Amino acid sequence: MLMEQLGFHHRLDGLWCDGVRLSDIADAFETPCYAYSLARLDFQLRRFARAFEGLNVLPCYAAKANNNPEILRHIANHANHANLPWGMDAVSGGELKVGLDAGFAPERMLFSGVGKKDTELEFAIEHAIVINIESLFELESIIAIAKLRGLRARIGLRVNPDVDAHTHPKISTGQKKNKFGLSESMLDAALGRINEASECIHVAGISSHIGSQIIDISAWKTAALYLVKLADSFHTSGHKTLEFIDFGGGFPVRYEGDAEPPGIEAFAEIIRSALQNCQTTATKRLRIVVEPGRWVTAEFGGLLTRVIGVKEHFIVVDASMTELIRPALYDARHEIVFENNLSFPEEGQRFDVVGPVCESSDVLVQNICLKNVPKKNQLAVVLQAGAYGFSMASNYNLRPLPPEILISGEQMTVIRQRQKA
Ligand code: LLP
Repeated sequence: MLMEQLGFHHRLDGLWCDGVRLSDIADAFETPCYAYSLARLDFQLRRFARAFEGLNVLPCYAAKANNNPEILRHIANHANHANLPWGMDAVSGGELKVGLDAGFAPERMLFSGVGKKDTELEFAIEHAIVINIESLFELESIIAIAKLRGLRARIGLRVNPDVDAHTHPKISTGQKKNKFGLSESMLDAALGRINEASECIHVAGISSHIGSQIIDISAWKTAALYLVKLADSFHTSGHKTLEFIDFGGGFPVRYEGDAEPPGIEAFAEIIRSALQNCQTTATKRLRIVVEPGRWVTAEFGGLLTRVIGVKEHFIVVDASMTELIRPALYDARHEIVFENNLSFPEEGQRFDVVGPVCESSDVLVQNICLKNVPKKNQLAVVLQAGAYGFSMASNYNLRPLPPEILISGEQMTVIRQRQKA
């Protein structure tokens, strides 16, 4: 079983998240609801710092994974009492504002995304936030805005290295066929244009992001080497403005049925050795940026749900694809644990756990084996749900967005109320 003592775990008297019983959370706030373990989040942040020790690194949390303002504030503040300050990667004007409000310093923020509107670009330029550009049309918009305002926009060049990340096709982003990043010919054209407009454009970095949940570490290595080589070629051809290489995100977590994926330490090692083998000292000195999203928040979150009823092999629960769309969208396999009803793969009865939404794809967990047939109102928790859980939730079927509860020791705090119907 995946549950560990830190975060969600089983005790003799039921399911717990840190020092709080899940049934107390469910009784107080009703289900479906998200619960987050602060201790588990801190564990990830500490593990990251250890893995990247000795590197000049700026981790920019990809807020799209979980953009609850309180969680963002915690990650931003973590910076104040640890040696390693965190930045944030935003992909919309909304995320930029929430990030700044949460206390992320603008110089530690990035603005990513393939289609940014002028109003969003203006906001980023005014706050001197680095914009990772992905197209020539975006470059033109930035030049026009910066000229008009008399400002010098700070940009990163997000390249598309045409590398197959061997992940789910819907979360693969680094191949030519994907809409993301600058191809080699676009990059050449962009550099020419930047030369002409250097008074209003400052190229601070180069970046790439080839996909999410990357188990095949060799694909990530290929992209990393591509970036380091590119930085070298910038330096040997006389470019002097580069400050960072941004290796993107994609660090995996273990979902149900998976083998243990490569740890964050293995990714840090790839960066270390790529930098050791680079051609120029200028590249060696660059700051390292990474943009982890899932890895930071997936495992600190669980979706609490209660059984509505059981018919044949269907366990119908009160959570659905509107709270957690990952199984329906990516065939993702999340672990589910029922209170007082452990799964026994060999001996038990097989079930699908489904939600109330009027879609056959509304399946949360498939083919689990339980010792007993669950009873009405029995509590369960869907694990690894802290990333791309609430942040992808919807109002489909007019279902209200669920509340989010932060667990700190024995305390529970509502960090987002259930949406009013
Ligand atoms: N940076 C950029 C530019 C991104 O587009 C993403 C994710 C990340 C960083 C963070 O990637 P991560 O470290 O979380 O793998 N909804 C999907 C995942 C979509 C990821 C989109 N981009 C899922 O639930 O699996």
